[in-house]
Amino acid sequence: MQDGPPRTRDQEGDFETVTVPEQHCDQLRDLMIAEGAETVVEVGLAYASSALAIGEALATIDRPNPRHIIIDPFQKREFSNAGWDLLCSAGLDAIATLMVTPSSLALPQLLTEGFVADAAFVDGSHRFHEVFVDLYFLRKIVRPGGLIVIDDDWWPSVHTAVQYYEKNLGWTVISAAFPGETAGVGPKGNRGARCKAYRLPDPAFEPSFEDFRAF
Ligand SMILES: C[S@@+](CC[C@H](N)C(=O)[O-])C[C@H]1O[C@@H](n2cnc3c(N)ncnc32)[C@H](O)[C@@H]1O
Repeated sequence: MQDGPPRTRDQEGDFETVTVPEQHCDQLRDLMIAEGAETVVEVGLAYASSALAIGEALATIDRPNPRHIIIDPFQKREFSNAGWDLLCSAGLDAIATLMVTPSSLALPQLLTEGFVADAAFVDGSHRFHEVFVDLYFLRKIVRPGGLIVIDDDWWPSVHTAVQYYEKNLGWTVISAAFPGETAGVGPKGNRGARCKAYRLPDPAFEPSFEDFRAF
């Protein structure tokens, strides 16, 4: 991705604003490799920097049946397929599938089909309710003890959704996953980490509603 995508939207600095930066992509790739992931679900393709990082990890790990499910309803309309074309030119379409429906519909479909993932990366709508719903389904799709990585946790909408799962459902932060992140400064000066990685509890559990912790 050093050369950038083949085309971008007609907005100044769009690639730099939208895509996951190179350093975080490298850390995401290394995290997936350390995890030995074989199946990954990704929400939000855009310019595919993160998708290329995940694809590189799956190719490096080289398990028998690697699968990379990517969900993005706006890849064609908004991004003229720039991200998907990059994945294809890297040969990663051999293991990747693009679902062009909103994640709130694609994720329950995957769950219904019995798809199980080792890990997920979430960089989709960023609206509180849509992130919350993504995480609701991903905790059922990603296996117990698996990994869920969030981008843009420095946005209050994203952070608040994630906090429910951290405070109530036993998700634990993997603080070593994105070194140097705690001192980040996000959009509009929001302080905090951009990327956050969580380990799901193993075994999975459902808490009583009486144990709800406000967050
Ligand atoms: C910040 S961009 C993702 C950037 C990407 N990770 C990269 O490295 O280039 C957010 C993406 O989420 C997609 N998106 C928005 N709403 C979505 C939804 N409801 N379901 C899935 N993807 C969505 C957008 O089309 C956009 O491509």
